[in-house]
Amino acid sequence: MKRIIFGGAFDPIHNGHINMALSAAKQIGGHVIFVPSKVSVWKTESVAVKHKKKMVQLAIKDYDCFSLSDFELTHKDKFVYSIFTIKHFIEMYPEDKIFYLIGGDQANKFHLWKYCDDIAKYAQILVFPRKDVKLSKKNVDRFNMIVLKGEERSDASNNIRSFKEIDIPYPVIQYIEEHSLYYIPKLKEWYGDRYNHVKNVADLSHQIAKNNGFNPQKAYIAGFLHDLGKKVHLSDTTKDYSEEIKYLNTAFEGRFKDLPPYAIHQVLGVYYAQKEFGIEDPKILNAILWHCTANENMNWIEKIVYAADKIEPSRGYDSSKLIQAMMDDLDEGFVTVLRANIDYIHPKMKKNGENEFTEKAIKYYLK
Ligand SMILES: [Fe+2]
Ligand SMILES: [Fe+2]
Repeated sequence: MKRIIFGGAFDPIHNGHINMALSAAKQIGGHVIFVPSKVSVWKTESVAVKHKKKMVQLAIKDYDCFSLSDFELTHKDKFVYSIFTIKHFIEMYPEDKIFYLIGGDQANKFHLWKYCDDIAKYAQILVFPRKDVKLSKKNVDRFNMIVLKGEERSDASNNIRSFKEIDIPYPVIQYIEEHSLYYIPKLKEWYGDRYNHVKNVADLSHQIAKNNGFNPQKAYIAGFLHDLGKKVHLSDTTKDYSEEIKYLNTAFEGRFKDLPPYAIHQVLGVYYAQKEFGIEDPKILNAILWHCTANENMNWIEKIVYAADKIEPSRGYDSSKLIQAMMDDLDEGFVTVLRANIDYIHPKMKKNGENEFTEKAIKYYLK
């Protein structure tokens, strides 16, 4: 049997890792053993061992050609050199051929790895190319590496830790939520009492997007960040909101500067998503931008976040039919949600100030 050892920080494991392992298993015809490390020699931060193990388990549970080894996680040393991991599996499976899978960035600095020549002697090294990294031919030749077909995306774990992107299997997303890892503490602190609402909007947005064949990860991030601007009350003179006021007056060519106070948070949400979470994706930013007022001609993610915000289960009324309508068909569901809200929206707007965007949405979708 061919056994492919796949070591790494997996902090956290993401779909890039899964694709890389699947690709290796398919091209070599072998079984992949995920071997998470406690820490990475190149990086410093890492979640607790028990969380890392559980997240890898959740990510690989549906694949027969994958398994997990906690050899490094339970090792007495904080850092285990790869050669010891490889020798462990050679002893364990003396009849089998052992492969060692690395990414293109690691291949290029492989000559710096401790015992690099021994690793190449005991295991056949497999390299999965990385999108923005040109492979060093020198190392490929010196260590007799097999270069696999495919391309790994770069920097995914970093981006996930900061919530800039979240290309991870859904059970892992849920685990991160439940155990308050990575980006969750920052979101909890930001939102305070509102956290449960935004979490529900994120989860529901993910489900609606998935059911309708759209990118659930983008919808999840937009759902979680949609109310970032809510904690700002521009009339509060005890705080310095000069930056926020400047943004409101100048961004988007000042289109939003006359919005009534209840809707201003959708614009400031865009400001904080960029500033605090590094979000650049226009789809995510626009979903935040229109979540309160709605607008004419909205795209899938704008409709999802608008609707999820109004119908998430903790809103205090039975929204199950509206949720089902969004799951079945988000375009029709959105119109249903907008219509269901209109009795609520209109009196509120009369009282708190009308805005041109909701009027546009009503005209566009309901008349
Ligand atoms: Fe909101
Ligand atoms: Fe909200």
